[in-house]
Amino acid sequence: MAIQAPAISVRDLRVVYADRSSHFTGLSIEALDVAPGSLMAVTGPSGSGKSTLLYALAGLIRPTAGTVTWDGRNILDLPESGRDRWRRHTIGFVFQDFHLLPELTPLANVLLPGSFENVTAKAELRKRALALLDGFGVPQRRKSIADLSRGEQQRVALARALLFDPPVLLADEPTASLDAAAGELVAKTLEEFSIRDGRTVIAVTHDPVLVERIGLKFELERGHVRGDAVRETA
Ligand SMILES: Nc1ncnc2c1ncn2[C@@H]1O[C@H](COP(=O)(O)OP(=O)(O)OP(=O)(O)O)[C@@H](O)[C@H]1O
Ligand SMILES: [Mg+2]
Repeated sequence: MAIQAPAISVRDLRVVYADRSSHFTGLSIEALDVAPGSLMAVTGPSGSGKSTLLYALAGLIRPTAGTVTWDGRNILDLPESGRDRWRRHTIGFVFQDFHLLPELTPLANVLLPGSFENVTAKAELRKRALALLDGFGVPQRRKSIADLSRGEQQRVALARALLFDPPVLLADEPTASLDAAAGELVAKTLEEFSIRDGRTVIAVTHDPVLVERIGLKFELERGHVRGDAVRETA
């Protein structure tokens, strides 16, 4: 089933951070347009602003200046509670450090986004969560997340991001802790989301193999765009 993904557009975006003695620009992007259904890699050295960009796209941080529009609507205009609700159903977000709750089981972690809502179809959601974990090869019998390997935790984070079947997936280094086989499974999954299902997938990655496979690259350096914005790697 093809998903209706939104068009994402960034204009004159600036994120200024403060350190102990001064302010500095963590991210500065004049224009970035991501067409619905794109599969795009964000690359660049450590500290170049990749995570900051994903946070800004998801409305998880408030930029110092600029606009982030989804289907023409500036998400920064939404009130905080409205933005949270919108995000839960629009974006699957895989955090670089996972943001899993170590004392909960893998299943409970995947179901976590459902606990913020009045979800009537609890059994359905549970079935979906189990299928996602199974599909990613995560052992489900572990008592807590703390008992999983880092690579397994990473796949739990990905499964959680997909719980509500979102039209957009923003993934921060989704293959960083995976071996070649598990990395391949995730790469294939990202491709399918976009090519088969029509989702927009934006993945931050250092992995040259994944960048090559993804085909569209947006490169940052010290908070600025390197080269001519989005380009094809092939
Ligand atoms: N909350 C913050 N306060 C101050 N500086 C910050 C904050 N968040 C990020 N930075 C700085 O902004 C710059 C960009 O950070 P960001 O996390 O976006 O980089 P990144 O490209 O994701 O790096 P990595 O590949 O290491 O994850 C870095 O120099 C970082 O130290
Ligand atoms: Mg980062």
